[in-house]
Amino acid sequence: MKKSWWMLGVSAILSVGLLVGCGGDDADQLVSFEIPTEGELGSAIAFPKGSELVEPFNQTLNELIESEEMDELVLKWFAGEVEETDAATEETEPTDAETTLVMGTSADYPPYESVDLATGEIIGFDIDIAKYITEELGYGLQIEDMDFNALIPAMESGRVDFVLAGMTPTEERKENVDFSDVYYEATNLIVSKESANLSSLEDLEGLKVGVQLGSIQEEEADELAEEYGFEVVKLNRIPEIMQELQAGRIDAVLMEDTVAEGHLAQ
Ligand code: ARG
Repeated sequence: MKKSWWMLGVSAILSVGLLVGCGGDDADQLVSFEIPTEGELGSAIAFPKGSELVEPFNQTLNELIESEEMDELVLKWFAGEVEETDAATEETEPTDAETTLVMGTSADYPPYESVDLATGEIIGFDIDIAKYITEELGYGLQIEDMDFNALIPAMESGRVDFVLAGMTPTEERKENVDFSDVYYEATNLIVSKESANLSSLEDLEGLKVGVQLGSIQEEEADELAEEYGFEVVKLNRIPEIMQELQAGRIDAVLMEDTVAEGHLAQ
């Protein structure tokens, strides 16, 4: 079982390499360039302020990070295509009469979290991490999907017990919620159609750049917009943003490399 994950990951890396290597025949495929990211763009688990879950979750998260299982999860979700797996369709039932925790997420962000079109289930790197931690600690897990923008309010009102949504711990957010340690790092990219010929922030002058509402990409885009003279278009869900890009209603998207990857490779 363990070995097959590695093989899957390795073949996924190879196929992504091939796709990237052969790109260029289709003029309208999506391409990207990296932009400097202010501070760190890591993901962490978020909790309502003062939650008792912070410590045990953080400890179990760190055990996972140090284990081989984490390497396998990274290969599984970040090395390329996501294959259907038994782990992905596993339901987590509480052991005996244990508590079920409600996790909030915004399932528009593969490979962190997305809706599996075949089963309608929410799957992803974050989901596997949540399953690992809740299983280790003996909790059941229920997942609530909502707009990214609604996650912090959901923690504040106690509607969810924690959030895994590729969420970056920022000083501003820390005023309202608590965070675990960072479990994954990313960088920001500008994604656009190859035919638009965009390769630097200067090229964005006078153009429309899409971002997810409430994300740190929104903040970064607002700052860059002043310097480079582009318009920031703020939308709720990533698939909606990609659709606007494909339809030519926006010219570019400011997003994380890890999430962009799936769109670039398609
Ligand atoms: N890391 C960024 C942030 O914290 C974007 C996360 C978006 N997550 C999502 N599930 N749509 O703002």
